[in-house]
Amino acid sequence: MARLDGKVAIVTGGASGIGRATAQMFAREGARVLIGDIDAPTGCRLADELRDEGHLADFVELDVTSAAAWSHATEAAIDLGGKLTCVVNNAGVTLVRDVEQTTLEEWHRVMDIHATGAFLGTQHGIAAMKANAEDCSIINRSSIDSLVGEGRFLAYSAAKGAITSLTKAAAMTCADKGYGIRVNTVHPGYIRTPLVSAEPQQFALDAERFEQEVASWHPLGRLGEPDDVAHMDVFLASEESSWVTGAEFVVDGGYTAR
Ligand SMILES: NC(=O)c1ccc[n+]([C@@H]2O[C@H](COP(=O)([O-])OP(=O)(O)OC[C@H]3O[C@@H](n4cnc5c(N)ncnc54)[C@H](O)[C@@H]3O)[C@@H](O)[C@H]2O)c1
Repeated sequence: MARLDGKVAIVTGGASGIGRATAQMFAREGARVLIGDIDAPTGCRLADELRDEGHLADFVELDVTSAAAWSHATEAAIDLGGKLTCVVNNAGVTLVRDVEQTTLEEWHRVMDIHATGAFLGTQHGIAAMKANAEDCSIINRSSIDSLVGEGRFLAYSAAKGAITSLTKAAAMTCADKGYGIRVNTVHPGYIRTPLVSAEPQQFALDAERFEQEVASWHPLGRLGEPDDVAHMDVFLASEESSWVTGAEFVVDGGYTAR
């Protein structure tokens, strides 16, 4: 038996980076996967690749800030798999600006995509999953930046902090109401994805120096790979974690332990 046999998941931001790795690993572990993203061409290509490998997968255009798009996505997941058992609220953008540089417009945009997106995904996920008579899981992508002070990521850190707190509150509601839905956060360190590859110019470093610099911030001496995070997502989506809720899971090569 694969670890996610019988599971049906929506993975937001599933067209790229960590979300892509999670969608692939979920499918290979037996889950039916709906990839949700604003990048339709890339998301559709990944769904095609997964189907070519023999998995049940599809793509839905999903802007995580839209409640209507979430209603459509949860219906599409149920059409695909007959039920919904997991939502991975992973979509995100970065913004390298400190407290003095951040504009109100930038603040609202980053809060909207991360905090509002995770709120809507958690709310719609609960609505679709609470009738299921089986273990269900919501996985909210936070960051090491919700745990340590990173001046250059002001709005991003605040948005990830909001995700961490809303996760614990939603986890308690689901536990108190006996819904059988667990809600947890995953906090990656620096992971090799397009989001991080866009950063060297912010540090006035070339890509190679940037990689060495970032690796040195992590005690294990390298950047993370998307699969490092996807492995944690598989654990949290599976019944191996059935006694785990309201918790923070750091996947950061030791970054926050220093
Ligand atoms: N890469 C890292 O080092 C790192 C570290 C900690 C946390 N994270 C978090 O992990 C998540 C994934 O990041 P990544 O590095 O894979 O980035 P990425 O840029 O590779 O992928 C992000 C995906 O989100 C999608 N997206 C953006 N806005 C969206 C919206 N409004 N609705 C739906 N989809 C949207 C993009 O199209 C893209 O496919 C993000 O939440 C990010 O903050 C990343």
